[in-house]
Amino acid sequence: MNRVLNLYRSSVGKKSLMAVTGILLVGFVFGHMAGNLKAFQSWDPAGGTLHPLDQYGEFLREFGYPILPEYGVLWVARIALLAAVLVHMFAAYRLWTQSRAARTRGYRKAESQVFSYASRTMRWGGVIIFLFVIYHILHFTTGDVHPDFEYGAVYANLVTGFQSTPVALFYIVAVGALSLHVYHGIWSAFATLGVQNARVERARRPLAAALAIVLFLGYISVPVAVLAGRWTSIGLTL
Ligand code: HEM
Repeated sequence: MNRVLNLYRSSVGKKSLMAVTGILLVGFVFGHMAGNLKAFQSWDPAGGTLHPLDQYGEFLREFGYPILPEYGVLWVARIALLAAVLVHMFAAYRLWTQSRAARTRGYRKAESQVFSYASRTMRWGGVIIFLFVIYHILHFTTGDVHPDFEYGAVYANLVTGFQSTPVALFYIVAVGALSLHVYHGIWSAFATLGVQNARVERARRPLAAALAIVLFLGYISVPVAVLAGRWTSIGLTL
């Protein structure tokens, strides 16, 4: 137990916690992005079936039922995700306060400008993403800030939500912040977890960049397609 506590107290321990929770969160954001792409699946509104995105939403809500309680798996996933977010943020906060204390003890010059710029961007990026996720849940999950929200109508909620240009632009900016955060996060997680192979070392930056670009394009495709559908004859519409 003492060894675990000592590891947590060290900055390597906190960085490892951030890397492990970060990998879990990156897994979620890629899975969620892939799920959102169901918005593009073809569907006949007159055919009397739910849109594939609505079916997918229903599948996630009902997963494991009736063997497990209704919404059971969904709530376990939500709690695990929330715990990962809280641990990630708390470890980041403790690392920040620790490095600030070290700087005031005279180590300021030792810290490279580039590193401090990147970590400042990561801190602010993290706060922006956190605030975005709160807004996003109130928008598409509970509907509190969505003027045309309909429970279970995931596709219709997306289209009516993104038909507001400021809302769609806000999502695009937030996803941009997320992609930059993931870029730097993946890049530094390799270092923290001690991947020291020379080939991996060379691939680290391009791999992080490629994943961040896929994430950005995958996410923005939905609001961009809804805006396109609003202004032109191609794009997502109801
Ligand atoms: C354009 C980008 C995005 C779109 C179109 C989108 C779409 C959606 C939709 C439609 C829901 C509600 C699903 C349902 O209730 O069945 C949802 C929930 C959610 N999204 Fe997103 N999302 C986007 C970006 C993000 C990002 C970047 C994150 C995280 C950083 C995120 C995290 C979540 C979370 C945590 C939930 C709540 C899941 C739950 O508890 O049921 N989303 N999203």
